[in-house]
Amino acid sequence: EGSDWILLLTAYLLGSIPSAVLVCKAMGLEDPRQAGSKNPGATNVMRLGGRQAAILTLSGDLSKGAAAILLAILVGADITLRGWAMLAAVCGHLFPFFSSLRGGKGVATTLGCTLLLSWPLALCQLLFWGLIFLLGRISSLASIATAIITPLFCYLTTPALTLTFSLTSAILILRHSSNIRKLVAGREHRF
Ligand code: G3P
Repeated sequence: EGSDWILLLTAYLLGSIPSAVLVCKAMGLEDPRQAGSKNPGATNVMRLGGRQAAILTLSGDLSKGAAAILLAILVGADITLRGWAMLAAVCGHLFPFFSSLRGGKGVATTLGCTLLLSWPLALCQLLFWGLIFLLGRISSLASIATAIITPLFCYLTTPALTLTFSLTSAILILRHSSNIRKLVAGREHRF
């Protein structure tokens, strides 16, 4: 349906808002696409500008994901279409229309979507991410591990979304390929 495509396009455009780039610009920090891991996300903004800048970036990316799903709920999208709205928002974050198609890795955007799609699943993801982070103090490792286990958590909490969450996880893992290389070489950044 035409209105479904308008919803997905809007979710994509919301996902395209480059929180990390905007926060760094506003706070006079280095461009997160040029410094550190060169990734425009909360983790790299933490490296470049510290906690306050990272929390602002995280809030921005969580909010845009949540906004995409809120919109889907408001227009009466069914659960399947809400799942596709998540994928559209994540694609916006990875390939942002407003930021020359060079975006981030999609972890915070996905969590923002999950909060409104299924709070039990979001809780599982948050606790699991926190656990893995505490074990190694490596953000990418926690993100990759959470992406790997999310389809299982999803199947157990919100089976109707298993397909879209599995696709999202696959995208997130592929997007962390440079992190996987660094992890294997023992060169990934620790906090
Ligand atoms: O969410 C991205 C995080 O998992 C890794 O970011 O900057 O360490 O590549 P970064």
